[in-house]
Amino acid sequence: MASFNRSFLPIVFISFMVTFLNLTTHVAAQNYLKHVCGNTTVAQNSIYSSNINSLLSSLSSNATGNIAFYNTTVGQTTSNAVYGLFNCRGDVTADMCRRCVLNATQKLSSTCSTEKVALTWYDECMVRYSNESIFSTVALIPKLNMWNTQNMTDQDRFNRLVNTTLTQLATEASNFPIGVKKFGVKEEKFSEFQNLYTLVQCTRDLSGTDCNSCLQAAINRLAICCSGSQGARTLYPSCNVGYELYLFYDVPTAPTPAPGLAPPPPASVTGSKGNSKISAARIVAIAVPIAASVVLFILGYFFIIRRKKYKAVKGENDAINDMTTVESLQFDFATIEAATNKFSHDNKLGEGGFGVVYKGILPNRQEIAVKRLSKHSGQGAEQFKNEVVLVAKLQHRNLTRLLGFCLEGEEKILIYEFVPNKSLDYFLYDPKKQEELDWSTRYKIIGGIARGIQYLHEDSRLRIIHRDLKASNVLLDVDMNPKISDFGMARIFGVDQTQGNTSRVVGTYGYMSPEYAMRGEFSVKSDVYSFGVLILEIISGKKNSNFYESDGAEDLLSYAWIHWRDSRPLELLDQSLRDSYSRDEVLKCIHIGLLCVQEDPADRPAMASILLTLNSGSVTLPSPQEPAFFLRSKTDMPIKDLESDQSTTKSMPSSVNEVSITELHPR
Ligand SMILES: *[C@@H]1O[C@H](CO)[C@@H](O)[C@H](O)[C@H]1NC(C)=O
Ligand SMILES: *[C@@H]1O[C@H](CO)[C@@H](O)[C@H](O)[C@H]1NC(C)=O
Ligand SMILES: *[C@@H]1O[C@H](CO)[C@@H](O)[C@H](O)[C@H]1NC(C)=O
Ligand SMILES: *[C@@H]1O[C@H](CO)[C@@H](O)[C@H](O)[C@H]1NC(C)=O
Ligand SMILES: *[C@@H]1O[C@H](CO)[C@@H](O)[C@H](O)[C@H]1NC(C)=O
Ligand SMILES: *[C@@H]1O[C@H](CO)[C@@H](O)[C@H](O)[C@H]1NC(C)=O
Ligand SMILES: *[C@@H]1O[C@H](CO)[C@@H](O)[C@H](O)[C@H]1NC(C)=O
Repeated sequence: MASFNRSFLPIVFISFMVTFLNLTTHVAAQNYLKHVCGNTTVAQNSIYSSNINSLLSSLSSNATGNIAFYNTTVGQTTSNAVYGLFNCRGDVTADMCRRCVLNATQKLSSTCSTEKVALTWYDECMVRYSNESIFSTVALIPKLNMWNTQNMTDQDRFNRLVNTTLTQLATEASNFPIGVKKFGVKEEKFSEFQNLYTLVQCTRDLSGTDCNSCLQAAINRLAICCSGSQGARTLYPSCNVGYELYLFYDVPTAPTPAPGLAPPPPASVTGSKGNSKISAARIVAIAVPIAASVVLFILGYFFIIRRKKYKAVKGENDAINDMTTVESLQFDFATIEAATNKFSHDNKLGEGGFGVVYKGILPNRQEIAVKRLSKHSGQGAEQFKNEVVLVAKLQHRNLTRLLGFCLEGEEKILIYEFVPNKSLDYFLYDPKKQEELDWSTRYKIIGGIARGIQYLHEDSRLRIIHRDLKASNVLLDVDMNPKISDFGMARIFGVDQTQGNTSRVVGTYGYMSPEYAMRGEFSVKSDVYSFGVLILEIISGKKNSNFYESDGAEDLLSYAWIHWRDSRPLELLDQSLRDSYSRDEVLKCIHIGLLCVQEDPADRPAMASILLTLNSGSVTLPSPQEPAFFLRSKTDMPIKDLESDQSTTKSMPSSVNEVSITELHPR
């Protein structure tokens, strides 16, 4: 049993359905799902109405510290009492919980404040209130179903697996005592390349029986609404369940505590049965060791659980894939050849630094991206396999997932999950497509990239330096969540990753830190540099390596710096954002971006502090100095034309002038 983290509903929800009285549907903030106002309006200036307001502010002010569930009542008489609660998802961070509850209460107060009953679901939390006591009772109305429109091929077997996995998980989650958060996640293997990921959660005021019956209703509901679908959710006020074919929560499943939990049978006591005159000393002699061992046992148990949890959070999900083996990752060549229609030109998605990328469809209809590595890879077969296994274990929602590989004679092929929405450059540099990236989307993309890089740098067991972070290596899923691609390539391709100095540079002009481009020195701070360039590009909608702008600047970095120095940073903003953005967030991002591109790697912040800053309202950052401007000497680098991953060659020819430097031998 483990908690889950972060976004609950990241991907492919195209349709949803609600069956309840009068519903208001309104999609706004990024993680907002739905709100439901009741049907009975109250007078604007009534006591009840002002009680609603104080209830909502009491809820949001209590969403601090580690409080993930809170219920309260405002009002004395039955006619004007308002009952309200919030429930944050499993182990979303305290800060995320606080912000979510804040948003949700604002949402309710702006849209439902004249209603006696209201509820809103966000990805990370749920807030509801009513004129009747809603505590410790099961509510199955209203409900929200959402499902992925993609169906499984082997539906019957899949449905059975979904049903049994969720049912089992529901039983386990229900067994947590009242007042403890009742939720769980579980992963099951469905086929060689498909895993089922499931989660359940109840509000923690429910009894075990109530929780289980709510979850059971939700599971049965899934069978009605969403049978055969690749992913679905049922949300009730009191509980929710969901499943996907991909990891949609971040923390791995720890082993279930069931077998070890019961205290050892008190065997020594049975021996004294029938002897009615046990001395007090004897009782103490028996009871004390038992009590002590039980206490020790429980302490030990919680210690282990805590350790596990800590490790889980620290290591994110890489514990899940301890089972990953070479065999489970190997595809045969015929399968891949068939999937890509013999590597046909029509299937070509793009061309990256390490080879051509094709779209493919496996016999089970799963879409994949196939990267056929160029032949001069420096890696022997065994070494290649070992590296693939290691890189396949890196799993994070902001990384494209490596599903496997194929080795046949000279051929080395990598197989990735297919990410539908093209890459960031496709949107970012196109005057039309730019409009689709509103500020909140851009901010979400910046945060997602930061989390992905942080995972590569710190949270995965390997320390991976990406070395070629750029807009075309950031793919976007249907919800515009970023997924970094092409990580770990230096390992797989056989470029020495262990030394911070190499004669072979893998990077892209415009994103490479000066020390890397000029001296081949790389470190996590070279990724930080590329990330800084990326932030400034996302904000300005301009490409660093293709910059033309008067205003006395020759490249994007100087342009950004000049605006910052002259206290007019907001002029950096992409025109297509017009006036809809959060000033604080924009300033924070420009500030971070400029710090990341400082000349001296030591002046660049670590990804962890970048994330901290992005996640919090105010962290004092040092002021940026004039950034590195080595770009001005663009001349004597051997530059080769290359395109990226599952990118955009076909749909957007203008982005083909992406330039990667693959080899560079400094004198
Ligand atoms: C909800 O309100 C609509 C009118 O807005 C009314 O027709 C309907 O009967 C109401 N339903 C309930 C259950 O009160
Ligand atoms: C919760 O909110 C109420 C009213 O706003 C306040 O009196 C109470 O101290 C808060 N509790 C916590 C734990 O913050
Ligand atoms: C919170 O809910 C519990 C029942 O789960 C109830 O006993 C308690 O009174 C509630 N607290 C408030 C402040 O309403
Ligand atoms: C809260 O609302 C703001 C603006 O409305 C939005 O940008 C942010 O993503 C929301 N946060 C959550 C957790 O929903
Ligand atoms: C709550 O409001 C509904 C609708 O107005 C009403 O039927 C119900 O009796 C109210 N409940 C209480 C406890 O006042
Ligand atoms: C999936 O199945 C449902 C019902 O079985 C059907 O309505 C829907 O069109 C199917 N979707 C696809 C993409 O085949
Ligand atoms: C799910 O499995 C349970 C037994 O575990 C069974 O009773 C129930 O009918 C199944 N539900 C569906 C929809 O298949």
